[in-house]
Order: sequence, then structure tokens, then C-alpha cells
Amino acid sequence: MKTKLMLGAAALALFASQALAQAYPTKPVTWIVPFAAGGPTDALARSIAERVAREIGQPIIIDNAPGAGGTVGAAKAARATPDGYTMLVGHMGYMGAAPALYKKLAYDPVKDFAPVFRFPDTPLVLMVRNEHPAKDIQALVAFGKANPDKLFISNAGMGSSSHLIAALMATAVGMKVTLVPYKGAGPALVDVIGGQVDGMLDQTNTALPQIKENKVRALAVTSKVRLPQLKDVPTLAETVLPNFEASTWYGIYAPKGTPPAVLARVEAAYLKVMEDRAYTDKMAAQAIQLLGTDQYKGTALGQHTAAEVARWKDVAAKARITLD
Ligand code: MLT
Repeated sequence: MKTKLMLGAAALALFASQALAQAYPTKPVTWIVPFAAGGPTDALARSIAERVAREIGQPIIIDNAPGAGGTVGAAKAARATPDGYTMLVGHMGYMGAAPALYKKLAYDPVKDFAPVFRFPDTPLVLMVRNEHPAKDIQALVAFGKANPDKLFISNAGMGSSSHLIAALMATAVGMKVTLVPYKGAGPALVDVIGGQVDGMLDQTNTALPQIKENKVRALAVTSKVRLPQLKDVPTLAETVLPNFEASTWYGIYAPKGTPPAVLARVEAAYLKVMEDRAYTDKMAAQAIQLLGTDQYKGTALGQHTAAEVARWKDVAAKARITLD
């Protein structure tokens, strides 16, 4: 009798979650972006949210919750109700590197989240203010070495990719720079354009338009090979940092305990969007690096997240990246 009751309860629960998933979503969904509006993560998230919303039939609202390199927003998402109506726009910094950088982190990127799907990646461009004396990457490194701490590099906060890659690059070429944190790459770039700081590393989707309008000067890119959109701009690897390559990865995560059927519904909606060639061509035109379909899936994102948490422990230790 007891087994029959338990089986009945399990069947009921399964039926209820399937019914819930079929009905999902019945109201707008919120995606938390842990950086200020106007930056690369925000821009990519809003573009994908608009398309996924069309597929799932409800608006996706972007909630910008910046601070501490993105860890504030990630903690907020980890505490959210696991009902599918709040999800996190995850990122290499706070979902990969943060456990290696923050002694006390209010969430675990692997244990506290269910991976849903992965965005394409974005390489970064090293840019300087137009008036800066350095005309190329070699001159910038020479300037940095000759003037320790007098090169002011803005970034999106401790642990963001614009911070991490700037710290890695500076350590690797042997120059001491002053890293100036902001609430996101958006405001960080505004101050490069305004000349308040000397330069920054920003992701291509928001960097390219400013370079095209000559508001800043591009000195190098972090991709393995040159970008078709910036043919005259060398890679760090072919100039000052052999074999150096970096790009920012992102993905959507739900709080642990969100019904699997809901996760599958959102993943399926995204995979359908990424089949739209006109849409992905627009991404490629922003030098966004498209991935293989399997890499976009939740399971692959979960594996990637765990591997990145391990990798950054090693990278941070070797580069002695600590948070001041
Ligand atoms: C970063 O890691 O630098 C971010 O992507 C910044 C941002 O999106 O604002």
C-alpha cells in the first residue's frame, strides 16, 4: 500500500512538473546581468533575450545587478526561486575565475546552478585613448615598463574578463599597470573615450563600433588570428605575447532545483534561434565567435563551467592574480 502511495505521489509530481513545463512561461521571465547596462555582456544578453522571448512567447526582462566583478548579481540569482522565472547571464569571470579570486564567495558556480545554454564567445580588443602617445602595442608595453603604475587601464571590476585579461597580459609582458574598476565595461569604455583613463580591453561586440568611429585606437586583439573586421590590428600572440589567446564565454544558468522540463524548453528555444543564419551572420559581423551546436547545450556548458573553475585556479596561482 505504502509503495503504491509513493508511486502515485511520484507520478503526480512528474505530471505536475510536465504540466508546469508545458504551460511555462505564463508570465515575463527575468535574466540577471551582473554588469552595468551598455556593456558587452548586457548587449549580447539583450539581443539573445529578444529572440528567445519570441520563441517562448513571453517577454524576457533584463535586470542589471552590477558589482564586485559580477559576483553580486550571481549571488542574487543563486538565491532566486527555482521556478524558471529568474535566470542568470553567466560569464567567464564570476562563473569561472571567481572561486580562485574571492576568498568568500556567496555561491558555487557548479553546485548552486543548473546550466541551460551557452552563448557564443567574444574575443577582446586592447584599445587606448586617441591622444595616448603609444602608436602600437610594442610602444604601449615600452611605455608601461618605463612608467610603472602610470598606465591606467579601466575594467569592469575585479574578476571581470576586462580585468583578468589585462592583469594576465601585464604580468606576462612584465609591466605594472594601474587597474581602475568600474561597474561594467560600458562605463569603463566611456572614460577611455573621454581620456580619463589610458585604455582597456573590451569585448568585440561593443568595442568595434567605437573603433570604427575613431573614438578610440585599437592596438591588439586577443584572438588566435586577426579579426576580419580589424585586418590591420595585430594579435597579442603575433607581437608581444606568443601563444596568448583569450575570449570571454557566457551562458544562461538557472537556480539549482529549477524543473528540468523548464530548462529543456528554454534550451530548445535558443537552439532554434541559433539555427537562424541571418541572426548568426549578424553576430559574426561583430566578431562574435560562433560555436558548434553541441557546445551551445546545457550539458556542455555545465562541463565547461567545471573545467573553467579548475583552469582559473591554476591560471590565477601562476599569474599571482589576487584581488587587492
Ligand atoms: C567584462 O568581463 O569585462 C564584462 O564583460 C564587462 C561587461 O560586460 O560589462
